[in-house]
Amino acid sequence: MTPKSVIGAKQNFRFSHKQRVRGAEVDAHRVVLNAQFQKYFDAAATEYWRSLSLPYEQSMAQLGAELYVKKFSLEYFAPGHCDDLLDVRLRCARIGNSAIDVEGAVFLGDELLVSCEQILVFANPVNQRPIPVPADFRKVIEDFEAGLPVVSYRAGSWDELSDDALELRIEVFVEEQGIALESEVDLHDSHAMHVVAYNGMGQVVATGRLLPSENDQAKIGRVAVKRSLRGTGLGTGVLRALQALAAQRGDTMVKLHAQCTSRSFYEKLGYLAYGNVFEEDDLAHIKMSLSLLGGDLSRQRPLQANGIPWP
Ligand SMILES: CC(C)(COP(=O)(O)OP(=O)(O)OC[C@H]1O[C@@H](n2cnc3c(N)ncnc32)[C@H](O)[C@@H]1OP(=O)(O)O)[C@@H](O)C(=O)NCCC(=O)NCCS
Repeated sequence: MTPKSVIGAKQNFRFSHKQRVRGAEVDAHRVVLNAQFQKYFDAAATEYWRSLSLPYEQSMAQLGAELYVKKFSLEYFAPGHCDDLLDVRLRCARIGNSAIDVEGAVFLGDELLVSCEQILVFANPVNQRPIPVPADFRKVIEDFEAGLPVVSYRAGSWDELSDDALELRIEVFVEEQGIALESEVDLHDSHAMHVVAYNGMGQVVATGRLLPSENDQAKIGRVAVKRSLRGTGLGTGVLRALQALAAQRGDTMVKLHAQCTSRSFYEKLGYLAYGNVFEEDDLAHIKMSLSLLGGDLSRQRPLQANGIPWP
């Protein structure tokens, strides 16, 4: 058993998930029900997989496996109360042949409330027999825990990246948003520079494109992130990579047509909206722009092995 001094130190965990205690989760004394903590750890585990950029279901299907909970033990040190903002921490402590040991802790501020130890077993979903944890899956977890990137960004032409970019664009724009395939794939694709983000298992998780420069102005479009991984920074990563490519070729400004539902996403990255809302592909859009002359824009970012800057 891991000693409390190790589990009880926040800095021993990279992964953190914030969880507000709601009224339905406490007893008559407004103390969090003990079984509720298992649900908090489960909710945090979902976010943990998202932090690894692994769409859980798709990844397990690709690996032909499932993770089964063999052991889940909790130790209580102090109570939680209604409205507390809990900090649920998780880490992978060890990967054996087929077993993955997970440790967790719930903190309120710096105070340890509850710790947990779990053993997950990687197994065949048909007969539930343990199978070895595959090397690529193991590496994603180990890289994440070591603070290394779990996503790589590749830039290239349509010839090089169309299969991968299209796989995700069809999933997001055609199947999810109902845009016609004929409008989704257009003549600009073959002239554009494309960026595709891959997770540690080689799955496509995000994409976007940069049209040829016109009067030192870049146009970015078709930015899409795998649905189950949104909100984990992949959209920002793709946009920064595209902006860095534009800055490298001497563009001074980026323009784009943002779906109104994504306006805040671009605003958080410094884009400003201008003009009136208009319809494109039956969806409300707004024009937005970003100056590349501001100075902070990824020009000095270190390059990945493939030559494009880390977002
Ligand atoms: C829009 C999209 C690309 C954003 O990608 P993402 O990976 O989810 O974005 P990030 O995780 O990098 O988010 C960066 C910030 O923007 C916020 N954000 C992301 N999408 C948002 C949205 N639609 N509305 C408001 N805020 C949003 C995030 O919460 C995050 O905020 P924080 O820094 O305060 O935590 C993604 O939601 C997507 O693929 N949507 C469907 C396709 C689409 O509409 N593309 C845009 C066409 S113009």
